[in-house]
Formats: sequence, structure tokens, C-alpha cells
Amino acid sequence: MNNKSHTILAIETSCDETSVALLRVSGNKVEIRHHETATQIPIHARYGGVVPEVAARTHVAEVVSLLERAGIFLSKKLSTVDAIAVTRGPGLSTALRVGIEAARTLAFSTGKPLIGVNHLEGHLASSWLVPENRNQWKFPILALLVSGGHTELVLMKDFGKYRIIGRTRDDAAGEAFDKSAKLMGLAYPGGPLISKYAAQFEKTKQKSRFTLPRPMINDPSLDMSFSGLKTAVRQTWEGISNEERSNESIIAEMAWSIQDAICDVLVQKTQRAIQKHHPVAVTVVGGVSANKELQKRMAEMIQTQTNILFHVPAIGLHTDNAAMIAAAGSWRFSRNAFDRWQTIDAKPEWNL
Ligand code: KG4
Ligand code: ZN
Repeated sequence: MNNKSHTILAIETSCDETSVALLRVSGNKVEIRHHETATQIPIHARYGGVVPEVAARTHVAEVVSLLERAGIFLSKKLSTVDAIAVTRGPGLSTALRVGIEAARTLAFSTGKPLIGVNHLEGHLASSWLVPENRNQWKFPILALLVSGGHTELVLMKDFGKYRIIGRTRDDAAGEAFDKSAKLMGLAYPGGPLISKYAAQFEKTKQKSRFTLPRPMINDPSLDMSFSGLKTAVRQTWEGISNEERSNESIIAEMAWSIQDAICDVLVQKTQRAIQKHHPVAVTVVGGVSANKELQKRMAEMIQTQTNILFHVPAIGLHTDNAAMIAAAGSWRFSRNAFDRWQTIDAKPEWNL
């Protein structure tokens, strides 16, 4: 184990955010010294989802400016960097390659070590960036990783030692939010919009008339399924009149039911995993963990369990960002898990 203080430069380009961060780690003191993300969401929203070719081209246009604004092209700043971390996968192959080319060029030209990071380990590390979580960081930790492409229950036994104990058999939870929103004519990404409309309906204190299924909720396994929910949303939505569909209060009511169904499944499966694996703490990470209702219900459920801590990432670090890649990069730095600029390549399908 390498306990040396270090500064990590991190680059993230796996999907639709170009992000660069500088993280200083000194014992238990962790400081995000620089962090900037250029989101492509408004660009992809025009197409109703992420277009890989457009994502890659936009990363090319952004990554050098982001590195410049991080001060990386100034020799004084560069000299403070101990290693260069970059997301290797999972993600869009052409998008990943943009970050990797930037990182390996920097590693080649500076002679600094290179660290290829698993994007999912980055999400797991996002909670560790919060000082209160880090001060109480003890394994095993049960992580619910819920993003646009992944929905997994992960048992973290130590840094770098992860076991997937449950996963979606079809769509990810983020996909269920996004696809349901699309069916209702809402913009990409649907998750934040569904959450906004659901909060609007919550305020009315009414009961939603829409009942949606909770697939696999009573299945004894820790696996989940969300594709049936999408089908039910389509059928329900098509069953109401055009006039009602453009009514904001109906949209809000439907959004509430969608969020309610997804949260029910996620919370129930996490509770089942706690009972089976007895973790010290639970963390919920990935873009969907930004959902306030999910956080609230998860916190309530965890309070009913004895002595289990709940770690949530800081606001702004739920969705894709380079600070979490730097954090996972720091974990790998401590384990001397380095890569070679000569051979590093994208791993679009990389599992944890
Ligand atoms: O982690 P992330 O930024 O990218 C992936 O690695 O996939 O997650 C993006 C996903 C999208 O599906 C988006 O709709 C969802 O996270 N999301 C939300 C919320 N904010 C983002 N879903 C529900 N409620 C939110 N507030
Ligand atoms: Zn992600």
C-alpha cells in the first residue's frame, strides 16, 4: 500500500460530459483543487438521446480547453501532478478514446504515471469525497449503483474488491426514467424532469390514479427488471386522451407514479441486500442517486435497520464527473495499479 500524499489529474469522457479535475490526497485530507465539467446535454437533447459520434466530436472540442483551464499546460501546475487518471470504460467507445488519447499523450510527454479507471468504480468513490462519509469509511459497504447504463447492487469488501450481488436483467433505472419520459414527450434526460414533475404532484397531497407494476419486487433474488415498467407506462399513457396528455397536472401525476415504482423496487432490493449481507454502511451512487425521493426513502429504510450508516455523494457529484474518477484514481495510485501509455485502450464493456 502506497500512503504517499499525491495529486491526481483526472479526465472523464465516457458519455455526454467532458470533465477534468485535480484532486489532492494527503492522508485523510482530500481536496478537490480544480473541477470543471462541460455538459453536452443540450446538444443531445435535440436528438432525444446521446449520439455517440456527436459525443466524441464534442469531447475533442472541449477536452484541451478544459485541461488548459485546469492549468495543466503551465509547467508549475503540471509539476504538482503525480499521476494522470482517465476513464477507460464502460462507456461509448469513441467517446472514451478521446479522454484516453489526451491522457496517454500527457503521460508520454511528461513521463508521469497513467491510471486507467473503471467509470463504475468512479461512481463508488464519489461518496468517499464527502469528509463525513470518509471519516466513517469502513467495509463492507453496500453500494446501489444507479445510472443511465447500470443498475447494480455492489458489495464493496475493500478498496478494489467488489462483488456484484444483484443487477438489472434488462433496462437500467436511469433508462427507465429516460425512456418513460420520452414516451410522455419530455426532453432528454428524463430523470431530472420526472423528478421535478413528481415533486409538483407530491405537493397536491393527492393519490395518483395510475398504478404501475414493480417488476421482480417479490423475487427472492437481488436482481431487478425495469423493461416491463416502460411497457406499462406506454400502455397507460396511450390509454388517456390527447388533451389530458398535454395537461401539466396529468404529466406530474404520471411522473409521480413512475418515480414511486422505481424507488419502491430500488429501496426494497437494497433492504433485502442489507439483510443478506450485513454491511456497515450503504451508499447510493450514479446519476439516479441525485433523485431526492430515492434519497429520502433510502434514508428512512436505513433508519429502520440497526446501526447502518448512509453515505450519499455531494450535490453535483451524482452524475458523471472527473472528481470521482480522480478519487478512484487515487485508490488505484495507493495500490500502485498503473497502466502503460503504450498499451492503454478503451474498455467499453468493462465490468467492475
Ligand atoms: O451516472 P450518470 O450521469 O451517467 C451514466 O453513467 O449513465 O447517470 C445519468 C442518468 C440518466 O439516466 C438521468 O436521467 C439520471 O441519471 N438522473 C436522474 C436524476 N438526475 C439524473 N434520475 C432520476 N432523478 C434525478 N434527479
Ligand atoms: Zn456514470
